Amino acid sequence: MCTKKLKSMENTPYYFYDLDVLDATLEAIKSNIMGESFYVHYAIKANNNMEILKRIAKNNFGADCVSGWEIETAIEAGFDPQSIVFAGVGKTDEEIIIALTHKIGMINCESLEEIHVINQLATQLNVCPKIALRLNPNVNALTHEKISTGLAENKFGLTVLEFKALLNDLSELNSIDITGLHFHIGSQITTMDVFANLCERILEIIPEFEQKIGPLTSLNVGGGLGIDYDQPDLNAIPDFQGYFNTFKKGLTSLVNIPVHFELGRSIVAQCGSLRTKVLYVKRSENKNFAVMDAGMTELMRPALYGSVHKIEKLNADPVDVAQFYDVVGPICESSDCFGKDIRLPELHRGDIVTIRSCGAYAESMSLRYNGREAIGNNLKPKVSTSLRMLKYA
Ligand code: LLP
Repeated sequence: MCTKKLKSMENTPYYFYDLDVLDATLEAIKSNIMGESFYVHYAIKANNNMEILKRIAKNNFGADCVSGWEIETAIEAGFDPQSIVFAGVGKTDEEIIIALTHKIGMINCESLEEIHVINQLATQLNVCPKIALRLNPNVNALTHEKISTGLAENKFGLTVLEFKALLNDLSELNSIDITGLHFHIGSQITTMDVFANLCERILEIIPEFEQKIGPLTSLNVGGGLGIDYDQPDLNAIPDFQGYFNTFKKGLTSLVNIPVHFELGRSIVAQCGSLRTKVLYVKRSENKNFAVMDAGMTELMRPALYGSVHKIEKLNADPVDVAQFYDVVGPICESSDCFGKDIRLPELHRGDIVTIRSCGAYAESMSLRYNGREAIGNNLKPKVSTSLRMLKYA
């Protein structure tokens, strides 16, 4: 039997980052916030590749972290600890201690119990961290239900009940400084009206905060600006102008309060793509499958959210005839599919395919499932194993 050799010797799959696009994106943000009291903290969860982090840190952005590991990695990459904000519904004591010992800028708190734990640990360490209350504004982000966070039904933020209870506990909380408010209503938001609605809610909430807790010295509006997955070349730079203008307009009545943003996807998504090789082309009566060497382990978004990324054949030959393919990965899950009925120039074993807009939530969400080799910055598994054998007499 004749076995066709792979046409390309390229060592796929790999994440390809175009640093010119990243630099242009960072410049676009900087030019849109110039002259304002606006501070952008890069949400590290979107992509924790060290080279990307260092580049963003060098441009004087802050960092938004959601774990102790992210805080330590941000500091290693050159982010100023004072520019780090720390969010998350389930911070462990160890992670809180990391935040406290590094004296980071702000801890965004999401439950009353968490606030008490931070206060207790801060007392032990003799520090007085700045705290922001993450409130759930009940604003509809008009995005995919799995990446919507600002509705009453979502697990994020202090509930109204807990906010009221906090007011009774204030006198006991002597080792923390509650000075900020934090919001984040969801991700991949492309309708600016959603952010305008958020501003309206924020302006309603601030007087209550100031009346019951004290002066507000920091407002964090979260992240969430979406990108164009359909046309990554035409719209490589997200609509930062529309986004920041919405906040300039919506928060004009706020004077002397710095506004913090936690942007992730909009900073890094368009600079990255996933390059993968065709292992096999399989034909049935009514379908062609292109089986790739990357799968949901390298890009989980389509399997998890049904998200659509633009798929292209790299170095396509103009004489290639277009065909329709289900572009699938090698993982033993039917959901391991990057796209169905995708029109592409004819594919052959060894061709390289590019999956676009993979700079955000691809590498950082990669997995080792199916014994996959780690590519890129893949983290070592953090969770240890405990084995037990029960012997019955
Ligand atoms: N701040 C907080 C508190 C967040 O939870 C997030 C994202 C961000 C900021 C950054 O949001 P961005 O600007 O990137 O939209 N894995 C999903 C996205 C999950 C977003 C989680 N939180 C995806 O692949 O679409």
